[in-house]
Amino acid sequence: MSDKLIIFDTTLRDGEQSPGASMTKDEKVRIAKVLEKMRVDVIEAGFAIASQGDFEAVQAVANAVKDSTICSLARAIDKDIDRAGEALTNTNSPRIHTFIATSDIHMKMKLQMTPEEVIEQAVRAVKRASRYTDNIEFSPEDAGRSDEDFLCRIIEATIDAGATTINIPDTVGYNIPDQFGQTMKSLIERVPNSDKAIFSAHCHNDLGLAVSNSLSAVLNGARQVECTINGLGERAGNTSLEELVMAVRTRQDVFDCDTNIDATHILSASRLVSSVTGFIVQPNKAIVGANAFAHEAGIHQDGVLKYRETYEIMRAEDVGWNANKLVLGKHSGRNAFKARLFDLGVELDSEESLNDAFRRFKDLADKKHDIFDEDLQALVSESQTEALESIKLVSLKVCTETGEQNTATIMLSINGEERSSTAQTPGAVDATFSAINSLVDLELNLQLYSVSNVTQGTDSLGEVNVRLEHDGKIVNGQGSDTDIITASAKAYVHALNKVMAATNKAHPQV
Ligand code: KIV
Ligand code: ZN
Repeated sequence: MSDKLIIFDTTLRDGEQSPGASMTKDEKVRIAKVLEKMRVDVIEAGFAIASQGDFEAVQAVANAVKDSTICSLARAIDKDIDRAGEALTNTNSPRIHTFIATSDIHMKMKLQMTPEEVIEQAVRAVKRASRYTDNIEFSPEDAGRSDEDFLCRIIEATIDAGATTINIPDTVGYNIPDQFGQTMKSLIERVPNSDKAIFSAHCHNDLGLAVSNSLSAVLNGARQVECTINGLGERAGNTSLEELVMAVRTRQDVFDCDTNIDATHILSASRLVSSVTGFIVQPNKAIVGANAFAHEAGIHQDGVLKYRETYEIMRAEDVGWNANKLVLGKHSGRNAFKARLFDLGVELDSEESLNDAFRRFKDLADKKHDIFDEDLQALVSESQTEALESIKLVSLKVCTETGEQNTATIMLSINGEERSSTAQTPGAVDATFSAINSLVDLELNLQLYSVSNVTQGTDSLGEVNVRLEHDGKIVNGQGSDTDIITASAKAYVHALNKVMAATNKAHPQV
């Protein structure tokens, strides 16, 4: 009989640590609900002590999700653990995840603590966490570069203190698959009380090996993997949930375990995370990239048409592709709209939000004949974020003529007051951004501007991503419209709102 492999999703915590990927409380709840639907076992909702906003986000996820375990990260410090425990009071199944660094370089240079002090603090933290829950995870940070004998000592001590999951992080993505698998095996064999805990892998992707390292850990006894949607995460990211889950499922001849994941929600989760964070999914990304199941070479197409297994190892529909792709049109009613959103994992929490989304849908249907799932997702994201914003785009007029300066006149509503401005520059997008800048008195540095089409065809929604830096903080904004200059203005305004809302928050690992 096959073992269960626990899926621990950290999109909302490690994923959010990616510069510019910060999410609002409502965005986190939306993503968490899709993860719950997907049957993710554990959702790491955040680092409760980071800021009041992070605390409230963990609390909101804990309130909204009932079928998954909800976890908060905490350094091995009393006040972190108390804050995590407090944020999780209203959940059926809370977990506290506490960690302290164990590599020589981290203990000496970062913590400036002796190994004995580190063990003592880890044990104290686990015992403190047991005031709130008996579901406690301990991570020796930078385990991938830690001394194995020392790891055995600290793991044994923390299991004795009450840890029920031991997570082995390759914090800097330094390990390679054989080595990481061997470490996992050796720790499970050598730690005398290892049978009292589940061993877990947490891999970073600095060498592009996060999924391979995690799979190697699973082959060597790990029964939990920590991962993120689209592999989002610090620097080069974490293990990608979709790749890990589908590798284990597709190669059941190799793995003696499987996950509970309902993979049909993978694509909608991927799209949601991408649209919330502005981190675009590359077309050739496994499982969720636009080309992942596209067969271009004629010979492949012929083979696939005759017998799909000739070139396909997975079915696109099993991960959420092609399910009812063409959905709605101009004449579709409110019920059909609502039902389709529900199928996509989008639950609007009030009649008012449903009405707003439906109005936007009708507007779009006037401009665009066929409305696809991707359009619906873009439209709902926009309606949910705009509702909370203090700066709103009211109108935009752009005049362009070959060889002439472009003129943009924009009207924004700023805290309810309408103000307008005009700018002239050689480019239409540039003129639009300059006009917006002149209405807000902020030093902004544009770090990224990109445009992509949401679906096929020239009537497609254009989706624009904008990354702004202000005072050391990086934010991403997204906007979509059938007109890409308007989409650009929406994205810029979205990013501006995030700049205004950005608060100082502690980073767990610094
Ligand atoms: O990468 C890491 O070490 C972490 C820990 C906090 C588990 O994210
Ligand atoms: Zn990490």
